[in-house]
Amino acid sequence: MSILKTENVVMQFGGVVAVDSLNIEVNEGEIVALIGPNGAGKTTAFNCITGVYIPTSGRVLFEDQNITGKSPDKITKLGIARTFQNIRLFKDLTVMENVLIAKHLHVNYNFLSATLRLPKALYGERQMKNECEELLERLGLTAVKNEISSSLPYGMQRHLEIARALATNPKLLLLDEPAAGMNPHETDELTAFIKTVKDDYHLTVFMIEHHMDLVMEISDRIYVLDFGQTIAKGTPDEIQNNDRVIQAYLGVQEDA
Ligand SMILES: Nc1ncnc2c1ncn2[C@@H]1O[C@H](COP(=O)(O)OP(=O)(O)OP(=O)(O)O)[C@@H](O)[C@H]1O
Ligand SMILES: [Mg+2]
Repeated sequence: MSILKTENVVMQFGGVVAVDSLNIEVNEGEIVALIGPNGAGKTTAFNCITGVYIPTSGRVLFEDQNITGKSPDKITKLGIARTFQNIRLFKDLTVMENVLIAKHLHVNYNFLSATLRLPKALYGERQMKNECEELLERLGLTAVKNEISSSLPYGMQRHLEIARALATNPKLLLLDEPAAGMNPHETDELTAFIKTVKDDYHLTVFMIEHHMDLVMEISDRIYVLDFGQTIAKGTPDEIQNNDRVIQAYLGVQEDA
């Protein structure tokens, strides 16, 4: 069953067509990758899906509901969470605080009752903290939960970003270059980590990534963008043997 669908999504910035007639379908339980050279329009596609941009034309459907033009906050509440290409954490706060804030933003939280420390709010607070503790445990971050987030090694900050996304209880997780800046060993670990997280939390994953070994190992299906256009889609095998893709992307990778 399709969980996410884009129908002829176009995103234009002035004269630049960053995404042109994007038709993507992600089914429940799949891991789908979106690849393509720098500037191909991948992040823009994510921004259209998550409400950061309102597409110039076309529609985005989540669980058959038209979510085009909804605010990022509403879209998160419906069950789509994402991480960002450039890590976005509260640098001066601890690991635990970072996850708690994400949880707070998600839970329908009554600020006044919390300020007055009413019993109901206290209960909610405790419950949220327990859920965050559990999340940190499962993501291997318990030992560092009181560390300032910017002091963590880069790979762990990426894990924390995923923890923050999961704190909103998503059905669909969008990852924008989760392995950016990682060495091959860290990338291998991340591959296993994404698979585990996906199974543990019954997620569907839609991911942008440049590390081809990760993409080929983990994806059920792949879409390839080039200059905003979808130039190929298919299984990892099909994509690796697609001449147009090799020319536009994989060939470029090898030379680099
Ligand atoms: N807010 C914006 N205003 C103007 N142009 C933009 C904006 N966002 C993206 N673009 C342009 O749209 C095109 C696609 O950019 P995008 O960031 O989506 O590419 P990408 O595939 O994510 O690339 P990368 O692999 O480098 O992250 C680029 O030409 C970019 O300059
Ligand atoms: Mg990008």
